[in-house]
Amino acid sequence: MFAPPIAPINWENGRVALIDQTLLPLEVKKIYPETVEEMWSAIRRLQVRGAPAIGIAAAFGLYLAVRGAESKEDFYLQLERAAAYLATARPTAVNLFWALERVKAAAKAVPDLSLAQLKERVLSEALALQQEDEAMCLAIGRHGAPLLAGLTAVLTHCNAGTLATARYGTALAPVYYLAGQGKLLHVFADETRPLLQGARLTAWELKQVGIPVTLITDSMAAVVMQKKMVQAVIVGADRIAANGDVANKIGTYGLAILAHEHGLPFYVAAPSSTFDASLASGEEIPIEERGPEEITHFGNRRTAPEGIAVYNPAFDVTPARYITAIITEKGVLKPPYKESISNYLK
Ligand code: MRU
Repeated sequence: MFAPPIAPINWENGRVALIDQTLLPLEVKKIYPETVEEMWSAIRRLQVRGAPAIGIAAAFGLYLAVRGAESKEDFYLQLERAAAYLATARPTAVNLFWALERVKAAAKAVPDLSLAQLKERVLSEALALQQEDEAMCLAIGRHGAPLLAGLTAVLTHCNAGTLATARYGTALAPVYYLAGQGKLLHVFADETRPLLQGARLTAWELKQVGIPVTLITDSMAAVVMQKKMVQAVIVGADRIAANGDVANKIGTYGLAILAHEHGLPFYVAAPSSTFDASLASGEEIPIEERGPEEITHFGNRRTAPEGIAVYNPAFDVTPARYITAIITEKGVLKPPYKESISNYLK
């Protein structure tokens, strides 16, 4: 399938390579975290971001933590410590916690292995997680494509594309899938204040492969819908509760209400690693709040008065009632979500 040639995370000659997403689109530069602390910081600073990518990066982070272990006892100690530490990098995307648990479980399931084999096991689990994410995104593309096939343009928010996953993205996967079949859907990308993932990342990655993309500010979404310039909204997710409530980038909730008002379908695309059946509703999803400088400054330039109070939640929760369908790797989930999600996760 069609997708940008650049994957955000690569295992290269014994090193984890991340595309530093804070530098895009001006510079395509790789960084090579060598320690678990450096991986924690790359996640926290959004050098690697997007729910599935955060999970994959954390899995590699565990390998960085255990590869120097000197005994099996030390290995398990480092593994637990690093998992607890990486879990503090960002709170909302459940993929992070899911990936950490999965790698820990893989290492604990084989206590008879030698120290070298245990280290190898952690690395191979991280690589497997990455490959599975790629396959899940491909399947999301395949299942989502029929929903978008007859449309000419869709609106998306933040970046739920290749850069947010192993490859192909979630919300953008159906767009890439259709492009692979020769149908170029026009994408309107919200710039996504305050960190501009739409402008810096979505616009960039779509442009790379020649998919038509129009950049708008977040406040222009209503008029784009009113003027019928798009026929659907499609976004990714950071965590989906058992009832279908969806946490995603701040501004998603507003878009869902706008889509509802304009009679447009509102689609969420996400793999199983983004579902958190332990939470009954979105009210329980922890929402990351980030520093005030993301709002008081534009780049390095101050754009708000000194000392101003700031509220900067990085995510919001869209109630399930606004969501037309959730596109997963196994198919399209429809309301009532409590039922469809529980069947899907079985
Ligand atoms: O703060 P970010 O850039 O990590 O936020 C990312 C999003 O909100 C994405 O929409 C979400 O993680 C889905 S990515 C496939």
